[in-house]
Amino acid sequence: MRVADASRTGRRWRSPAAILDPTANRGGAAMTVYFIGAGPGDPELLTKKAERLIAACPVCLYAGSLVPAEVVAIAPTGARVLDTAPMTLDETHAEIVAAHGRGEDVARVHSGDPSLYGAIAEQIRRLRADGIDYQIVPGVPAYAAAAAALGQELTIPEVAQSIVLTRMSMKSSSMPEGETLENFARTGATLAIHLGVRALLEIERVLAPHYGADCPVVVAYRVGWPDEMLIRGTLSDIRDKVRAAKITRTALILAGPALGEVSDFRDSALYDPAMPHVLRPKRR
Ligand SMILES: C[S@@+](CC[C@H](N)C(=O)[O-])C[C@H]1O[C@@H](n2cnc3c(N)ncnc32)[C@H](O)[C@@H]1O
Repeated sequence: MRVADASRTGRRWRSPAAILDPTANRGGAAMTVYFIGAGPGDPELLTKKAERLIAACPVCLYAGSLVPAEVVAIAPTGARVLDTAPMTLDETHAEIVAAHGRGEDVARVHSGDPSLYGAIAEQIRRLRADGIDYQIVPGVPAYAAAAAALGQELTIPEVAQSIVLTRMSMKSSSMPEGETLENFARTGATLAIHLGVRALLEIERVLAPHYGADCPVVVAYRVGWPDEMLIRGTLSDIRDKVRAAKITRTALILAGPALGEVSDFRDSALYDPAMPHVLRPKRR
């Protein structure tokens, strides 16, 4: 897959073989920064590709607040492994530029899937400006891991067919105009709200008029970690339950009718005998 802008960098694209074998970059050839999704925390939720790249890259920069040490413990002996939680963007980029100078590949390990609140866009902007190649390796996002831990589907036929991945603004950058919780609540979709466990009062205030105060809510805390907690409640009581559990960070809020004990929904059309399709033609 092509990732850098050839017209700007003048680089030749590397073959998929080189992408799959980080050690193939040595000897003065271009290096690559691999943005790797490490999943929610459970090391068993790493993809094979993520595992192989972390185990091979001589430099590993990982978001230590959400990526457990076990995940990066597989870095090769002698690798430069740094927790980026206390670092600035300038500092992490300087590490990458130094690795580039040495011709060493970098495993840049993020929690969940890097495309969601991974702050990789600003890193990519700098890599492109410096003509440094990169690849993105997807990971299991927290919302999917939470659904799995709950043993539930988030899209139930004719109940909820859309999932809104959003966040509360809190201390981070403000939300774009139009992307308000109020607007998303009007859709009735299943909401997966990141970075919002300290804003449950606000979430209840905004959602209750649209979903009802008895709308099911789950607060999924540190999914995939040994201290994982899944707290079920409703819009009206979830705040008390979360306060009692003393949860103040690293939790995903799932809200919407699909989260409840819905049992009177129709089967999907996918396996419906009355709905033949090209791979399951009408039987005689
Ligand atoms: C900076 S975002 C990273 C999201 C991540 N890239 C993903 O794909 O899930 C951090 C927020 O994601 C959610 N999150 C990440 N990992 C989590 C986990 N293991 N359990 C519950 N929520 C998690 C929380 O809402 C947390 O505040």
